[in-house]
This record gives sequence, structure tokens and C-alpha cells, in this order.
Amino acid sequence: ALDWPALRQAVAGCRACGLCEKRTQTVFGAGHEQARWMVVGEAPGEQEDREGEPFVGAAGQLLDRMLAALQLTRAADGEAPLEQRVYIANALKCRPPGNRNPQADELARCEPFLVRQIELLKPRIILAMGRYAVQALLRSDEPIGRLRGRVHRYQGVPLVVTYHPAYLLRNLPEKAKAWDDLCFAAELFE
Ligand code: URA
Repeated sequence: ALDWPALRQAVAGCRACGLCEKRTQTVFGAGHEQARWMVVGEAPGEQEDREGEPFVGAAGQLLDRMLAALQLTRAADGEAPLEQRVYIANALKCRPPGNRNPQADELARCEPFLVRQIELLKPRIILAMGRYAVQALLRSDEPIGRLRGRVHRYQGVPLVVTYHPAYLLRNLPEKAKAWDDLCFAAELFE
């Protein structure tokens, strides 16, 4: 039943798994706490671990550009209406050393934080990026390619699956599909 400040504090002090040993800091999330959009990624990378903010590296810049093309912003301040604001969080709040893949036990221990973020935010749409976000939210191991292009639900909230932006950077032809996914989400939102 934690509110935003208490949840943030709980994450900052979390020692529930071994990732706490090597982190510089936790990465809680970014954006307005009443944003209508929610984007869920995987885990902090090196730069996120250093800055304490999700998606600030190359993948994050791509994400921000894609969001901006739909007039969406992660900014917590300024004039944008809540419908154009995005809250960004990861399935894991600590960086896996060397950016290795998250482990099942790490995801399980971190999950209550993400669940509570979604409860507090009450987004109107969720965009799950990559297999770990999908595993955490949909309990599915199916490949992204089989899950994208249709509406899923998380606690009643429409959820759209798409590729992780780091994957897009390595597979540029897939960017068009991710753009389609974002436009699909925007249509659902209306
Ligand atoms: N990749 C993610 O999934 N999350 C981040 O915050 C950065 C890179």
C-alpha cells in the first residue's frame, strides 16, 4: 500500500537480491506520476546505473525520438497534458552486472515494485518492450514477434507488446515494426 515517496524509498533501500551489491544506485522510473502512458523496459544499463534514470543511453535516445514523433514526452514538468506524458519504468530496478540478462529470481523479487508503480500510476495504456517486460507483465515466454500487433491486458489495462529499443539498434529493419506498434498503441489510446 505504499505511496510514491514510500515506494521510491523502498526501492532505494532494497537488498532483496544480489544485484544490490554491484549497483551504483537504483533506477526507480521517470515521468509524471499521473502520466496516461506507461512504458516498461528491462533493466538499467551502465549509463542508467550511473545517472539513476531509465533509458538515458542510446536505446533511450531512440525511444525518446519515437515517443516525440507521437508528441509524447517523459518530462514530469512543463505544459504537456497528461495524455501526452509517459512514465518509464523497468522490470528490474538495478543493473545486472555487465548488462547480462535478468534472472528469474531477480525479476520475481523486483516485480512487486513494478506492480505497485502500475497501481499508483493507473495508466491508460502500457507498452511492454522486450521479452523481460513481457515475462513480468504477461507471464509469457512467447517471442515478441508472435505477441505484437494485438491487444493484451494487464489488470484490465490495454497492453501492447513491442521490440526493445536496444534490439532495434542492432536490427534496424525492425524499426518500422516498432513504429507500427507505437501507432497501434496510440490508436487504442484514443
Ligand atoms: N534498457 C532498458 O531496458 N532499460 C533502461 O533503462 C536502459 C536500457
